[in-house]
Amino acid sequence: MSTTSTETARALVAPGKGILAADESNPTMAKRLATIGLESTADRRLAYREVLLTTPGLGEHVSGVILYDETIRQRTGEGLTFPEVLERAGVVPGIKVDAGTTPLAGFPDEVVTQGLDGLRVRLAEYAALGARFAKWRAVIRIGEGRPSPTCVDANAHALARYAALAQEAGLVPIVEPEVLMDGPHTLETCASVTATVLRRVYDQLADHRVRLDASLLKPNMVLPGTTSTDRPDDAAIAAATVAVLRDTVPASVPGIVFLSGGQTDREATARLDAINRLAPQPWELSFSFGRALQAPVLQAWAGEASHAEAAQAALRHRARLNGAARRASYTP
Ligand code: 13P
Repeated sequence: MSTTSTETARALVAPGKGILAADESNPTMAKRLATIGLESTADRRLAYREVLLTTPGLGEHVSGVILYDETIRQRTGEGLTFPEVLERAGVVPGIKVDAGTTPLAGFPDEVVTQGLDGLRVRLAEYAALGARFAKWRAVIRIGEGRPSPTCVDANAHALARYAALAQEAGLVPIVEPEVLMDGPHTLETCASVTATVLRRVYDQLADHRVRLDASLLKPNMVLPGTTSTDRPDDAAIAAATVAVLRDTVPASVPGIVFLSGGQTDREATARLDAINRLAPQPWELSFSFGRALQAPVLQAWAGEASHAEAAQAALRHRARLNGAARRASYTP
């Protein structure tokens, strides 16, 4: 019996598990590899992703992995595709389908995500390559007069167009409107911008007839800007985050999977734990971390094949801690 989209969405937020975002575009992966002093080549990206995704026991606390276009087409040393590797480990393969951001004409310092042209065809191809869910990231910046309502609308509209197309192709859409942490803004400002963005996103998803029970939301946590003097504790961050989500996210959404967005791995895990202390909520509250899961793995690996086991142990460790945070039982 084949799995329905609703079942896939639920599996992605199964208790004690969350998503590993390993969908860095080539330019982003080049930045990550530069942090360990390495140049980014197709072979090196393959070597790194192979270490990451062949981690023994990956499926214990990782429900799904988001892949990048290059990765979903590559093969491991054993000749398997990554969707095959993941399915064998009981992990759901997913794919980033947006084509990154571009400046929004007429709106200085604002961006809109592109990639709708030809998306129907690409989604069908990704489904044939084994992807069962998709991700599209919109980016909202807070600043002087920003975000403009036009920027929020343009991004919400694109997210809804994408989500409807993903469901048409049988993939579960992860809807990711990221309000960035950059800037001196307060926690309250982030809360009000995040609420405005989520309201517009769910308006647009409804207009485009997206089935919310077969979708997931990937939002930012509500945080003060990185250069703000505001220093709320994790309990205050959790309370602000949950308050915004309760005001804006329909209860039929099976799960909310936070991005880490530049928080350290420990911060992201501690805050996920604090958020889950506020259970029960209408939705599962989980993770879809990139940097907060991978930073220690990259450091341990450092481009050395002989470090593969240590790197995999680092991934298992972070995944286990985040699995504990889902039950509000994380101890640093
Ligand atoms: P971070 O957790 O590093 O923010 O990455 C998550 C992600 O997939 C961003 O699109």
